[in-house]
Amino acid sequence: MGEQGGLSGEAPRAPPDLREAVTHLFEAGHRTLEPGVLDQILLNASPLELSRALLDKFSGSILTEQTVSRFIRDAFGTVSPGGYEKVADGYLPHTRKVTPEQGYRELFTDRYQRLHRILRGRPALKNLIPIRDVPRHRGEEFSVIGMVREVRHTEKSHHLMLALDDLTGEATFLIGKDNPQGKGAFLHDEVLGLRVWHPKDGDLAYVKEVVRPGVPVPKEPRKTTFPSKVLFLSDLHVGSKMFLREEWQELTAFLNGRTEQSAIAEQIRHVVVAGDLVDGIGIYPGQERDLAVLDILEQYRELGRLLSEFPKRLNVVLIPGNHDAVCPAEPQPPLPEVFARVLPTNVRLGGNPSLFSLDGVLIQAYHGRGFDNIVPSIPGARYEAPTEVMKHMLNMRHLSPTFGQKIPLAPLPRDGLLIDPLPDIFVTGHTHTAGIERHKGVTLINASAWIAETEYQRMRNVKPEPAQAFLMDLAKSSATQLDFSVR
Ligand SMILES: [Fe+2]
Repeated sequence: MGEQGGLSGEAPRAPPDLREAVTHLFEAGHRTLEPGVLDQILLNASPLELSRALLDKFSGSILTEQTVSRFIRDAFGTVSPGGYEKVADGYLPHTRKVTPEQGYRELFTDRYQRLHRILRGRPALKNLIPIRDVPRHRGEEFSVIGMVREVRHTEKSHHLMLALDDLTGEATFLIGKDNPQGKGAFLHDEVLGLRVWHPKDGDLAYVKEVVRPGVPVPKEPRKTTFPSKVLFLSDLHVGSKMFLREEWQELTAFLNGRTEQSAIAEQIRHVVVAGDLVDGIGIYPGQERDLAVLDILEQYRELGRLLSEFPKRLNVVLIPGNHDAVCPAEPQPPLPEVFARVLPTNVRLGGNPSLFSLDGVLIQAYHGRGFDNIVPSIPGARYEAPTEVMKHMLNMRHLSPTFGQKIPLAPLPRDGLLIDPLPDIFVTGHTHTAGIERHKGVTLINASAWIAETEYQRMRNVKPEPAQAFLMDLAKSSATQLDFSVR
């Protein structure tokens, strides 16, 4: 929660987004959704209309995945509508005027409530109580769900002390220095559950188990029933003198079927770029020395020219990064119209982060400035091993929880940096390194870069791995790394 005060106090009501609106409809109709059904409904083009139709049609108290799939197939002729569908942009502006303090309070309350919803009901979190009631439960084992306010070690014994708050109060919990539950990093403002034992005559409650929202049950990834492939790219940095033009031409030739791999290229239906589309202007001191194109609109025009050389049938999804011409605070809105209109018509623009489906497969795309917060906070974390950091993000179900670090956080009413619902594919960039891994059914991709090693990276001793692309076969849910470097 950083400097913006605790969660204690009256919870302002977060404005309902589509997910919450659908949830409310089913709660009001006294229907329970089987796990996965909510995501299934949200992937549809008209989730509210579909929900009302389901409520009218089925009177049973539980709606199963099978029932809903069959209903969608009968109504729409397919389990999931094809092509690109935006599910939610991380960026959701206020609909009324609020002070930054109110905005942050609403943001953190929204984060707490949504992650609480994900954590409650876990078998390990029995006897869940509000943190205000901790002193009244001496001599008992109970559970709490809270946001991390403070992490410190006791001076003499090196036990870990975790201060957590929820909407009712704050309390400190001890994890003994030999307790394996204290291993790993605890980040400020992440939300987690604790199973706790509070001795009858002690002031401190002892942690028996730490429960993160994570992926409680490994996911069965969605697949298409027809051949469909997506190519993931990131960090193009168009306009920089160090843009890898030759390597990019190799990529363009591949996509146009002018290489030996034309059979693979033909099956590609979508391209996703995870931010830093252009190099931008004034992003770091002395950047003008590194720029081949000194005008921001010209940089986007050049991006448009490069993308227009891709086959027109491709659906190209772009999200911004910290080098792009949108507000740097996260979540970032999509590129504004002034730049959008110089891009080809097959381009779709999302915010950063962005949640969308491609042929019914759910993608969470995030540029990745959260790496700059998380890498220094986790012992052993490295930019060269990006999927390790992405696993931690997935475990927290949050892309960058800590307030007041390197990344400005926009005081918006809804926490757009939550990972919710769980995607089939989680893609990031920013590090200019490359990585791919399957974790509990979620494919993690860090999608390289199209710029040579920068001075900034040399300074930070980060070795980039540029000119790599990741090809995901949506029918098989398998991925391949493609190397376009020119040796
Ligand atoms: Fe970048």
